[in-house]
Amino acid sequence: MTTFLVTGGSGFIGSHLTERLLGAGHSVVALDNLSTGQTSNLDPVRENPNFRFVQGSVLDELVVDELVHDCDVVVHLAAAVGVKLIVEQPLRSLTTNIRGSEIVIEAAHRYRRQILVASTSEIYGKNSNGPLSETADRILGSPAVARWAYSAAKGIDEVLALAYHKERDLPAVVVRLFNTVGPRQSPAYGMVIPRFVRQAVAGEPITVFGDGTQTRCFCHVADVVTALTMLLDEPAAIGDVFNVGWGGEEISMLDLARRIIELAESKSEIELIPYDKAYERGFEDMLRRVPNTDKIAALTGWAPTLRLDDILRESLMDARLEQSV
Ligand SMILES: NC(=O)c1ccc[n+]([C@@H]2O[C@H](COP(=O)([O-])OP(=O)(O)OC[C@H]3O[C@@H](n4cnc5c(N)ncnc54)[C@H](O)[C@@H]3O)[C@@H](O)[C@H]2O)c1
Repeated sequence: MTTFLVTGGSGFIGSHLTERLLGAGHSVVALDNLSTGQTSNLDPVRENPNFRFVQGSVLDELVVDELVHDCDVVVHLAAAVGVKLIVEQPLRSLTTNIRGSEIVIEAAHRYRRQILVASTSEIYGKNSNGPLSETADRILGSPAVARWAYSAAKGIDEVLALAYHKERDLPAVVVRLFNTVGPRQSPAYGMVIPRFVRQAVAGEPITVFGDGTQTRCFCHVADVVTALTMLLDEPAAIGDVFNVGWGGEEISMLDLARRIIELAESKSEIELIPYDKAYERGFEDMLRRVPNTDKIAALTGWAPTLRLDDILRESLMDARLEQSV
């Protein structure tokens, strides 16, 4: 039995990973300050004797030191996540995503623990070429545009984890997650599918930001968790960076809204909201965001199993259940 420390364990991805690891017979300690995570996300595992929840922050060096000391493997998911949060609370987000990660990575190094660090497709910034492989260029706008702060912070996390690997032999893996969706993802922080689906179910206008021609790809959280566990089990992944996402079904935001309306049999109209109004003046977006996942596929054989319609049907079912409660 391996003991995992999952930072951000009450969050969307963290809670699914925690369930999977416990299901595989491992022991999990989840560290989370509940800033965006929900205690209810961990209800399915609360009674599991191999599970422990610690409410606290990755910014608390003493807590992190003790928990890393007591575990075998660290999965660092805790972060201020999503463009909306970063635009609205840049200082808190930067502190969590830079200093918090530094504290966790330093502790992993201190005790020689294997660590997986969650990064993001925001790393690629405005690079709208696609599919993007791990070596694709980063194209970032001005630091004065708040959005790029998330990318900048995660970039520092990546460099730090890989520098500790290169210079000090830290067994670190970096995973760049593209849009991940599924149960427990909150619509509160600007994630597009939960937002559209709830609007469709409520019969409210579906608010598409910009002109809606920008395209994205979506991967189900169950597939993402499988990718994480495969990389954790693969010694050859250490010291390297991997994209995780599903690049097979690129879709524009307008078509996504239309598809959701159709599947939900909703009377919702589509409303275009300019970026300036949705976020702030000068907000910048990328036209495409498509992952190339050849690298993880070649190393581990990973391939996503769930398709966009599976994801949308499940999200609609969840939103209807939520509405009926
Ligand atoms: N969901 C996606 O589409 C996506 C895409 C790219 C990258 N990621 C990355 O995956 C990771 C998990 O994201 P998620 O989608 O599950 O978001 P989430 O907001 O549900 O999870 C983040 C968790 O971290 C916790 N947290 C925040 N600050 C903390 C702190 N100082 N100390 C302890 N816990 C803290 C939050 O309470 C939350 O539970 C993040 O690192 C994020 O950058 C997610």
